Amino acid sequence: MVNKHFYPVSMPSITEKEISYVNKAMQSGWVSSLGECIDKFEQEFAKYCGVKYALTTSNGTTGLHLALATLNIGPGDEVIIPDLTFVATANAVSHAGAKSVIVDIDPDTLCISSEAIMQAITPKTKAIIPVHLYGHPCDMDAINKIAKKHGLFVIEDAAEAHGAEYKGKRVGALSDIGVFSLYGNKIITTGEGGILTTDDLLIYERAKFLRDHAMSKEKRYYHPEIGYNYRMTNIQAAMGLAQLERIDEIIKHRNDLYSWYQEFINTSKTVTLNYVAEWAKSTYWMICMEIEGIDYDTRAIFMAKLKELGVDTRPYFCTVSAMPMYSSENNPVSKYKSDIGLNLPTFFDLTRENVKEISEIVNTVLSEITQTISKCEV
Ligand SMILES: Cc1ncc(COP(=O)(O)O)c(C=O)c1O
Repeated sequence: MVNKHFYPVSMPSITEKEISYVNKAMQSGWVSSLGECIDKFEQEFAKYCGVKYALTTSNGTTGLHLALATLNIGPGDEVIIPDLTFVATANAVSHAGAKSVIVDIDPDTLCISSEAIMQAITPKTKAIIPVHLYGHPCDMDAINKIAKKHGLFVIEDAAEAHGAEYKGKRVGALSDIGVFSLYGNKIITTGEGGILTTDDLLIYERAKFLRDHAMSKEKRYYHPEIGYNYRMTNIQAAMGLAQLERIDEIIKHRNDLYSWYQEFINTSKTVTLNYVAEWAKSTYWMICMEIEGIDYDTRAIFMAKLKELGVDTRPYFCTVSAMPMYSSENNPVSKYKSDIGLNLPTFFDLTRENVKEISEIVNTVLSEITQTISKCEV
């Protein structure tokens, strides 16, 4: 339940359903990565996304790495990723031994820019990883067209976008492989966890083989290659099944949250909430707020004041190109958005009254800092 005096950014929604499914899995004795919940969760998740196959993993990062390994992407290869994303996207490319080529984003959707992708293609490019950031899908037709023209793989990083739709089709079904995170702050969660989606039997079988220590199907405990242990447990899958049965109500509530925030926050030309493209159905993993003209330090003051008043927020991701290990040319749109954006509390237990109270606090602090925001007409 929400503590009236402090609103965190995120918390999972765990009901009697999750608890009873997990209890049943525990009682079954199948506590590791074999058990009926795993198979069922994979089948149901595949069905939900509209693909033939889904494969659970230990988390979204291992899922991304597994996707790259399955496609045989490694040393000497380049993978194009957006600059504004969680660092796991880049880390997975590094774990595969390949190089991330970091490009700019579209200023509206915050997703990878297809023009920037085109400019970044070299003979070494093997794949593109579009990230459906904060629950908003990427412009997949444009990306897939480029990929087709240049013979590239596309791996959707759908870690933050369960159920989001692009032109009526769910993310995870829009490319060679989709990868979801099931971390505790995600739209649905298994505590830690991830899941891959694909329509391609060969990809599915290869990913499954590599995920399970690359054990030969014909000869148990014979391993012709170096594989991984990237498996999820049956207990986690039990929780996943319960969450998946509730995903429609969870997403509906996130839509409600978005409309409540739209209603109560004093938005303007300079203070905006999530943009949604006309071809997109966002699932609002996070309510996003951008304040044009604010700088990094003033945003930090703004967020600290909100916290004092009981509203936690989080800044947009730092750009990948700002990290020492990926240090590269600055992408101006990503850098700007990274500095002016923040996420407001976004989780299932928030009521309309809670959102009203949070918004009133946000509006008050916004007006207080107006003077310090240069060029800002709040
Ligand atoms: C865009 C993005 N990619 C990948 C990941 C990695 O997922 P996980 O934390 O499950 O490893 C996350 C999640 O946190 C994410 O937000």
